[in-house]
Amino acid sequence: MRQRKLKGLEEKLSVYAENSSVCTGRMKGRWNELFDSRQPLFAELGCGKGQFILSRAEARPDRNFIAVEGNDSVMLRALQKAARRLLPLSEESAVSPDGNERPFEELVPEGVFQAERIPEDAVPEGICEGGAREAAGAGKRRGSGKGRIFRAAPNLVFVNMYIRDIKECFSENELSGIYLNFSDPWPKDRHAKRRLTHAGYLAGYRHVLMPDSPLEFKTDNKELFLFSMEEFRKSGWGIEEYSEDLHRSNCESKRFQTEYEEKFSSLGKPIYYCRARSADVFPAR
Ligand SMILES: C[S@@+](CC[C@H](N)C(=O)[O-])C[C@H]1O[C@@H](n2cnc3c(N)ncnc32)[C@H](O)[C@@H]1O
Repeated sequence: MRQRKLKGLEEKLSVYAENSSVCTGRMKGRWNELFDSRQPLFAELGCGKGQFILSRAEARPDRNFIAVEGNDSVMLRALQKAARRLLPLSEESAVSPDGNERPFEELVPEGVFQAERIPEDAVPEGICEGGAREAAGAGKRRGSGKGRIFRAAPNLVFVNMYIRDIKECFSENELSGIYLNFSDPWPKDRHAKRRLTHAGYLAGYRHVLMPDSPLEFKTDNKELFLFSMEEFRKSGWGIEEYSEDLHRSNCESKRFQTEYEEKFSSLGKPIYYCRARSADVFPAR
């Protein structure tokens, strides 16, 4: 669903990040510098409002998580959700002395979300490499090479960028796992290459994932699921776990639900799920 651009978006986002634009291409191979500890790194691509990755990060303090979201308004929603969940904001502080509700961003203590660890040389003075294409096209979306980074917890950062080529953002073997949850289905054939499970993207994931690392994929869209299974098969990925009705299965992944997942499963829709590995240890069905 297309998200309406929120009022005062840039101003609100600036509360969460000091550096409005970082050359994410220059973070390649260095993402772990943003976290308290160097530990295995997992990325969710298209995190939406962030519920899934917040729960994952809380459950696994021994892992680091990067939540990537290309839409600025959705990113703000994710940051607001993270602030509500992670900061001890009292009910009373949400009301100003005149009895009106205070704008939420006023409640976020200064500096709390800012990624103070961003290396100086990651912040571009002008247009950085990967971002040049988007800047030239004046696109609304930030390209893979350029984005904003928001540190939400010792083991979780949000990155506001649109992934076109994952190899522009991460170096070889940098990730230990990828999550794709309810990725945009791009139903028209001519847009198939934009699907995040298209073979073109899978080749990039294989490059940035450590050998034999998992990619978990969930969707309510049967056509997208079937398409994705075929792309995994063609690209030599193995399927380790698979369900056409995740919430009636024993898969552990049903514990961590996204906003879309909650919505669709509450409507009685089955959720399709698979865990794939780039090494062909389990033959794809
Ligand atoms: C259908 S929503 C699902 C959101 C969330 N994963 C969930 O399950 O609730 C897909 C999200 O992915 C984001 N997205 C799609 N393609 C992307 C890309 N190439 N890079 C970054 N974000 C992307 C969209 O902006 C949108 O917020």
